[in-house]
Amino acid sequence: MASSLKHPNARILIGEDAEETGRLAAQVLLDVVTTDPAAVIGLATGSSPLPLYSALAASGADFSAVSGFALDEYLGLPEGHPQSYAEVVRTEVTEPLGLDPALVHTPDPQGEDHAARAAAYDAAIAAAGGIDVQILGIGSNGHIGFNEPGSAFDSRTRVVPLAERTRQDNARFFGSLAEVPDQCVTQGIGTIFEARHLLLIAHGAHKADAVRLALEGPVGEQFPASVIQRHPQVTVVLDREAAARLGQRASD
Ligand code: GLP
Repeated sequence: MASSLKHPNARILIGEDAEETGRLAAQVLLDVVTTDPAAVIGLATGSSPLPLYSALAASGADFSAVSGFALDEYLGLPEGHPQSYAEVVRTEVTEPLGLDPALVHTPDPQGEDHAARAAAYDAAIAAAGGIDVQILGIGSNGHIGFNEPGSAFDSRTRVVPLAERTRQDNARFFGSLAEVPDQCVTQGIGTIFEARHLLLIAHGAHKADAVRLALEGPVGEQFPASVIQRHPQVTVVLDREAAARLGQRASD
């Protein structure tokens, strides 16, 4: 059965398994979209939000006026590559939820002038009125989006090299480690922090340390996800294993 955990830095919802975390996280988004059918949602890729997207698709809610902005995108993959986040967002989010493709954006990884394209991405988020709910996974090294350890808390959307550990973690999505790009474009920590509500999702024992450090470790740029401790509206949805190392296990 789902429970919640009193915590000074976030509202924490705990599901028995990934499927239940998907339903709990979906309820957070459905509440927002019911209030504002044209809400702006920040979209995360990776495996953590997949149960959420399945639950949203199953809800039958109307997402046709919702705008989406992906957190990040690999650099150096050919257009249409199945592991490009533009493709992942299209197949996992836009199509199953019935979003309008014209309202769904991913950072543009093609071409040369990345600084201008990155600035345009931040400008497009601002022009849409800012992000209402930013969905986040967490890397085992504390990255959010692709903001690796050391990323400035005031960073904006930009090109960054991928940490070796992240390339190894993400190799499972590719044929081999060599095929994983070594650069990407990511929303900055500053960009992410401007979202009005952060919704962080994690499953599994291998995320328990990262979740503990994000919520209870020292706040600093060496562990990017720790920035959530400074944000005024954070919901963290975990399965039991990912929640296992948090203090104060008093369920209410
Ligand atoms: C990738 C994404 C992140 C994501 C992270 C965790 O590196 N760029 O946005 O949060 O992976 O992935 P997973 O949810 O598969 O553990």
